[in-house]
Amino acid sequence: MNDSTNRRKVPPLRIGDLVIDPPILQAPMAGFTNAAFRHIVREFGGAGLLATEMVNARGFVWLDENEAEHPDRLWGVADEPRPLAVQIWDNDPETMAKVGRRLAEEYRVSVVDINFGCPVRQVTEKAHSGSYLLREPNRMHAIISRLVEVCAPTPVTAKIRLGCNRDNINCNEIAHVVEEAGAAALTVHGRTAADMFRGNADWDRISEIKSHLRNIPLIGNGDLDSAEKVVAAFEQYDVDAVMIARACLGRPWLFAQAAAALRGDPVPPEPTLAEQRDVMLKHYGLVVDRFGEEKGTVLMRKYACCYAQGKHGARYFRTHVAKVSTPEEFHSVVEEYFPLRDPKEEVESATAS
Ligand SMILES: Cc1cc2nc3c(=O)[nH]c(=O)nc-3n(C[C@H](O)[C@H](O)[C@H](O)COP(=O)(O)O)c2cc1C
Repeated sequence: MNDSTNRRKVPPLRIGDLVIDPPILQAPMAGFTNAAFRHIVREFGGAGLLATEMVNARGFVWLDENEAEHPDRLWGVADEPRPLAVQIWDNDPETMAKVGRRLAEEYRVSVVDINFGCPVRQVTEKAHSGSYLLREPNRMHAIISRLVEVCAPTPVTAKIRLGCNRDNINCNEIAHVVEEAGAAALTVHGRTAADMFRGNADWDRISEIKSHLRNIPLIGNGDLDSAEKVVAAFEQYDVDAVMIARACLGRPWLFAQAAAALRGDPVPPEPTLAEQRDVMLKHYGLVVDRFGEEKGTVLMRKYACCYAQGKHGARYFRTHVAKVSTPEEFHSVVEEYFPLRDPKEEVESATAS
């Protein structure tokens, strides 16, 4: 981290005509990356491209045909700042095309991203979508090429895993298919679908994919949880950009830290624990504004756990916050249990005295 003067500047990411600078992306995460979370990420800065949760294309079409409201997961999308990617999933090219066209023309999103990585049974076994499609390259090609056709000039991207399982790693072959079908970028999470989140992401495999792409950029994803790791990913692996998922959930300032490190600037310190609590309270306010006090408080439980994760006393906070259902309860649990004492500071003050 100290030899920043020798560091080669990492160029912006180009997705079609879109310039993503810095080339650090916020991953789509179902149940988490809604407009409230994205607002918080945007305020800290450092993320070149933000993404929604994955949106079920079939559900969207159904809602539309039944004159219901648009999917909840598109909350905020029409109005918030760009660039913004919306991720969609299904296995039918025409259904995907219907939704892709609307996202491009009506919502004017910056990128339409396709989910070919979700390993959850409901999506794979029940709907033959997400990572299930990695075993059907022809269908992937049909989905991508149809979307590219209807979304143009809005770029279409694909997000995959290495393969369905360790015995069927086919990401190199899939990379060809994705590029050939006209996608403008490929994101790879360096695990197989069967891995779920076990083991480490295989960055050597991610890097190897680069030689199988001719013109489109490669975005690497998996296990990046510090500014140092982001810099190392660019230095050690052949990727054009990186994507951060789980680590940003309780640390939305991570993008700003990683961006500074990439520029060779000093990395901003972690906010103090009191500041982190205030970020969480602001996040809570945004969630309640949208979902109301009751639903918003219940929804906030999982975010609150993320903010506390890894901190001294997080377990007590988690146990209590998991039961809150009113703003009064939420605030009193935060007041009493949100971890505000840094064990390091305690050691330092004990040594000093
Ligand atoms: C709670 C959760 C929800 C996720 N939802 C999505 C999703 O909607 N679409 C998607 O492509 N990936 C989804 N992912 C996968 C992440 O985008 C990312 O690929 C994965 O977590 C690996 O990155 P990480 O090690 O930085 O967390 C999800 C992951 C988590 C933990």
